[in-house]
Amino acid sequence: MVRPATTCQIVPLAAAPDAAPTLARWFVEARPPYYGDDGPGAAAADLAACARTGSLPTAVVALDSAGRTLGTAALKRNSAGDAAFPGPWLAALLVGPGHRRRGIGSALVAAIEVEAVRQGFDAIYVSADEAGAIFERRGWLAVGEAPSLTGPVGVYRFELASSLERC
Ligand SMILES: CC(C)(COP(=O)(O)OP(=O)(O)OC[C@H]1O[C@@H](n2cnc3c(N)ncnc32)[C@H](O)[C@@H]1OP(=O)(O)O)[C@@H](O)C(=O)NCCC(=O)NCCS
Repeated sequence: MVRPATTCQIVPLAAAPDAAPTLARWFVEARPPYYGDDGPGAAAADLAACARTGSLPTAVVALDSAGRTLGTAALKRNSAGDAAFPGPWLAALLVGPGHRRRGIGSALVAAIEVEAVRQGFDAIYVSADEAGAIFERRGWLAVGEAPSLTGPVGVYRFELASSLERC
C-alpha cells in the first residue's frame, strides 16, 4: 500500500475538471520540447481526451484535503515505445513542482495500476527517464529502451496478474 506523506485523495479527472488548467500549465513547464509553443503537443487537449472513465485514455488526479490539485497520471493506448511494446501505457505522470518527494507520484502510479486491472489488462508499460526508480520500487521490471523527443528512455513493464496474486 502507498501512504503519501501528504494527505491526498485520488479521483478520476472526469470528476475534477477544475484541475485541468493547473495541470495543463504544469505540463507546459515540465515538457517544453513537447508541450511548449514549438512542440507538437497540446496539453489542454490531451487532458480533455482523458476526462472519461472506464476506457482509454483515462486519467486520475491527486487532490489535497482542500481540493487543490497536486498531480495527475493517465492510462493510454500509446506512448514513447509503443512501436516495440504493446501497451497500454501509464503516461503523463506529473506531480506539481511544490509537492514532489512526498509519495504523491507513487500513489498516482498505484491508482493507475488499479484502473488497469479494472479495465481487464494483464500488464501495463511506462517509459521513464530519471524517474524510473519510482517504478522499480513498485516492482516494475525494466524491459528495454525507446526513443523520445529528449533522447532514449527506459521502458518498464508491470504484471498486473502477479500484483493481484500478492493481495
Ligand atoms: C517523477 C514525479 C512524478 C515523481 O513524483 P513524486 O511525488 O515526487 O514521487 P514520490 O514522492 O512518490 O517518489 C517515490 C520515489 O521515486 C523515486 N523518485 C521520484 N522522483 C524522482 C526523480 N525525479 N528522480 C529520481 N528518483 C525519483 C525516489 O526513489 C522516490 O523515493 P524517495 O523520495 O524516498 O527518494 C515528479 O517528480 C514529476 O512530476 N516530475 C516531472 C515530470 C516527470 O518526470 N514525470 C515522469 C514521467 S515517467
